[in-house]
Amino acid sequence: MNPAHAAHPASALVIDNWLETGWADRELRADVSVGLSSRPKELPPKWFYDDHGSDLFDQITRLEEYYPTRREREILDREAGAIAAASGAECLAELGSGTSTKTRILLDAFAAAGQLRRYVPFDNSDTTLRTAAGEVASAYPGLRVHGVVGDFEHHLGRLPLDEPADSEAAQFRPPAMLMLLGGTIGNFAPAKRPAFLDAVAAVMQPGDTFLLGTDLVKDTGRLEAAYNDAAGVTAEFNLNVLSVLNRRLGADFSLDAFEHEAIFDADNEWIEMRLRSTRAQTVHIPALEMTVDFAAGERMRTEISAKFRPARVRAELGAAGLVVQQMWTDVEGDYALTLARRMRQP
Ligand code: AVJ
Repeated sequence: MNPAHAAHPASALVIDNWLETGWADRELRADVSVGLSSRPKELPPKWFYDDHGSDLFDQITRLEEYYPTRREREILDREAGAIAAASGAECLAELGSGTSTKTRILLDAFAAAGQLRRYVPFDNSDTTLRTAAGEVASAYPGLRVHGVVGDFEHHLGRLPLDEPADSEAAQFRPPAMLMLLGGTIGNFAPAKRPAFLDAVAAVMQPGDTFLLGTDLVKDTGRLEAAYNDAAGVTAEFNLNVLSVLNRRLGADFSLDAFEHEAIFDADNEWIEMRLRSTRAQTVHIPALEMTVDFAAGERMRTEISAKFRPARVRAELGAAGLVVQQMWTDVEGDYALTLARRMRQP
C-alpha cells in the first residue's frame, strides 16, 4: 500500500494536475504556428475556451437554435436510471467534465441505484476542474472524487479509475463508465477519431462501458441555424479565438476585419465554422515571430462539428473493440447517447 494514500484513506476529494507548467502555452504556440502556415489556414477549436469563450459557449447552450444541449439533457432526464442499470458501473469518469452540470443527472441516478462510489472528472482547465470537483464532492457525501487536470488527447492512459490503495486488486475493481458528452467527439477530424477511441478503449477493462454523446445528421437548415444564431452569440464565440491569440501571443488581429461563417458540409457530414477575412490584411504574431497574410475573402477554418448517423457511431466504436449495448435518442431523433461495452480482448 502506498503510504501517501494510506495517510488519507477516506479523503473524499483528490485533484491531480498532469499538465506541466507552460504546457498550454507550448501547445497554443505549436497549434497556431502549424495552423496558420497550413493552406487553408486553420485553428483548433480548443482555444475558443478562455473565460469569455466559456461564458459565450454557456450562452450558446441556452439559445433557441442550439438544440444539442437540450436534447442531451432530455435523454439524460428520461434514461439516466436505464443508463445506470445497463452500465452496472460504480465509477463515473467524465472526459471534458467542465462544470459537471449535466453529470449530476447521472450522479443522482447512480446514487439512487446504490451504485455511486467514485467520480473522476477530467478537464484541461485547472480552475474549472477544481471548482466543479469540489462542488460535486460536497453535494454527494460518501462519493470519492478524484479529479484530473489533463488533456484527453494526450493523457488518457493513466485515468485513475480505481482507488489507489486497491491497485493490486485492480483487475477485480467494480466496473467503470467513461463518458464524453455534449457532442465533443464531433470536434475531432474523422481521421483522428480511431486513435482517440482506441485510447479510450485502452484505459477500460473488459466490462467497463463508454457513454458517448453525438449530434445526429438532420435537416441542413436546422443544423446551420444552430451555428448561425440570430443573436450573434456563435459569431462572437468564433471571433473570440482571435482575442485569445491577441492576448496570449501579442497578435494584432482586428476582430472587425473577420466574419463568422458556419456551413454544413454535406459530403463530410460536418458543420464547419470559419473566419472569413473581409479584406486583404497582414497580421503580426510577435510571440511566434510570425507575419501572416490574409487575402480578401480568405477563409480560415476554426472548428468542425461532425454529425453522425447511428450506423457510423456503431462502426467506429466497434472498430475500437467497444460493442454498442444500447442507444438512446430524444423524441425528435436529433441527438444520441450511446452506451458501448469493452469486450474481452480476442
Ligand atoms: C462543444 C464542440 C459540442 O460543436 O456544437 C457550439 C461547440 N461550436 N457552437 C459544437 C460549438 C459552435 C460544440 N461542442
